[in-house]
Amino acid sequence: MAPVTGAVSRSHPAAAAMLLLRAMAGRRLPPLMRLSRGCSRLAAGSAAPEGHRGAAPAPEGHRGEAPAPGEHRGEAPGGHRGAVPVLAALLGLGTVLAYGERRRRTAEAAQAPRAPRYPRYTRAEVAQHRSPSERVWVTYGTEVFDVTEFVELHPGGPDKILLAAGGALEPFWALYAVHSQAHVLELLRDYKIGELSPEEASPPPGDTGDPFAGDPPRHPALRVNSLKPFNAEPPPELLTQSFLTPNELFFTRNHLPVPSVEPGSYRLRVEGPGGRALSLSLAELRQRFPKHEVTATLQCAGNRRSEMSRVRPVKGLAWDIGAISTARWGGARLRDVLLAAGVRDNTGDNTGDNTGDDREWHVCFEGLDADASGTPYGASIPLKRALSAEAEVLLAYEMNGTELPRDHGFPVRVVVPGVVGARSVKWLRSVAVSPAESPSHWQQKDYKGFCPSVDWDSVDFGAAPAIQELPVQSAITEPRPGAAVPAGELTVKGYAWSGGGREVVRVDVSLDGGRTWRAAELGPRPERGRGWAWALWQLRAPVPAGARLDIVCKAVDRSYNVQPDSVAPIWNLRGVLSNAWHRVSVSVTR
Ligand code: MTE
Repeated sequence: MAPVTGAVSRSHPAAAAMLLLRAMAGRRLPPLMRLSRGCSRLAAGSAAPEGHRGAAPAPEGHRGEAPAPGEHRGEAPGGHRGAVPVLAALLGLGTVLAYGERRRRTAEAAQAPRAPRYPRYTRAEVAQHRSPSERVWVTYGTEVFDVTEFVELHPGGPDKILLAAGGALEPFWALYAVHSQAHVLELLRDYKIGELSPEEASPPPGDTGDPFAGDPPRHPALRVNSLKPFNAEPPPELLTQSFLTPNELFFTRNHLPVPSVEPGSYRLRVEGPGGRALSLSLAELRQRFPKHEVTATLQCAGNRRSEMSRVRPVKGLAWDIGAISTARWGGARLRDVLLAAGVRDNTGDNTGDNTGDDREWHVCFEGLDADASGTPYGASIPLKRALSAEAEVLLAYEMNGTELPRDHGFPVRVVVPGVVGARSVKWLRSVAVSPAESPSHWQQKDYKGFCPSVDWDSVDFGAAPAIQELPVQSAITEPRPGAAVPAGELTVKGYAWSGGGREVVRVDVSLDGGRTWRAAELGPRPERGRGWAWALWQLRAPVPAGARLDIVCKAVDRSYNVQPDSVAPIWNLRGVLSNAWHRVSVSVTR
């Protein structure tokens, strides 16, 4: 079916002039073609006097009628250039007359039977338009849109919008919260071509369901960076109240809805290199393999991103300093499970592979959470790390002595100590040994660092290695920026951590912006020598009334790595690896 191109104009100056002149002449307005998509978008803020903008029905009943053959399309009759100069002069009078005209036409419209404004389509007809060659149609609510021209312009890429071709947009928009903004709907309405037949107007079962409706309840203290998918961090003051972060306060980084897993029917698939595969139930994972426990800090690559975006905007969630938390994890060692699946332990040969060649092999993980196309979250780590007994990589089913909470991967997740959180795949469904890294978007096209000069036009994700071990990090959790602290003894608190098990050996704190320093006191660490967990630290210092303090902290790890002093030189377009000295300014009350 050919698309109907009869959407009305959006108060383009020419259209506005014509509407006004016609209103003054007391004539009924014929439908207008939009002058151009660009123009109509520019004009989106100013509704035409007849109120026919967007989905709201026009009193005149002319919204969206297809123009009659030979009817003028585009410029207003007579050309708008002539109309514009008189427009200003006519505006005052026009408003008065247009008001009277509007009342007259509203009364007229109330009596006249309303013609359907758009052609009606069935869902089956919409479903025939699934590719640019047969045109791409979608529905939203009861409206039908031909978005063929928009496919190439879709910010998420043509392939993503084509997933919705021939059907309803709601399930996809529900997954990607970026669509729930007024201007997105506004833009969509430029492409309206019809309405669903009344008998089809109610959505097919399951189509409008919110994919996040099954997400678990969350602790109200969490600071939410995005609700759907859920991303939240504990407030800094609570973050360092205890060495182990309570499960309810542990930061949450979800890319997709939380899957609902029935523990009784859960199976984990483990594939070795020779085609040998294991399928393990939760009970088998618990019983067949010795339980191993590790206290490890997880940190998201985007922790402290908001400081980076203060230098220059970056793409990503605006994490403060709380995308980091620590738990005691319990589960089976990944090493033990891989060996049971027939993977040979060649960790002595430098590559940890199973082939004798010198390529680095990998272990790829997939989660049970998937996007609208069915693509799961995935990531990988080098096989060598997976097989190393010292690396202590876990298939965890316990967090701080209880079963994993749903937000943190119930029933089984990977925990890769010392490595960026992105590789600790939650809701684990499969583990596969492979000669290549995970093909997942999150391994290939995200979580990589770049030179500050690289922008979205020049970035080549293939050119940078995936982030694994993270650099040394520290932050001040108390006092909070801008606080007024009492004169006397000030206690500064914070955390410090480094990737790769490189234990933090010192944290330096300055109260004068970095001119003078004192070493902070490191808190007790239950597993000294295993550097997977953070160090909590504090510094007590006398502070005089009326002073302004620029508090700064920087950590030093076992390899004497230190944090860079400022953000600009480590700025990158995704805002990852933000680990410059942390700075907090406070005033001291008199
Ligand atoms: N695993 C799955 N299946 N889905 C995800 O969205 N997010 C990753 C990782 N594992 C993610 C995942 C990222 S980016 C991080 S930082 C950690 O989980 C966060 O773990 P947490 O939510 O338990 O703190």
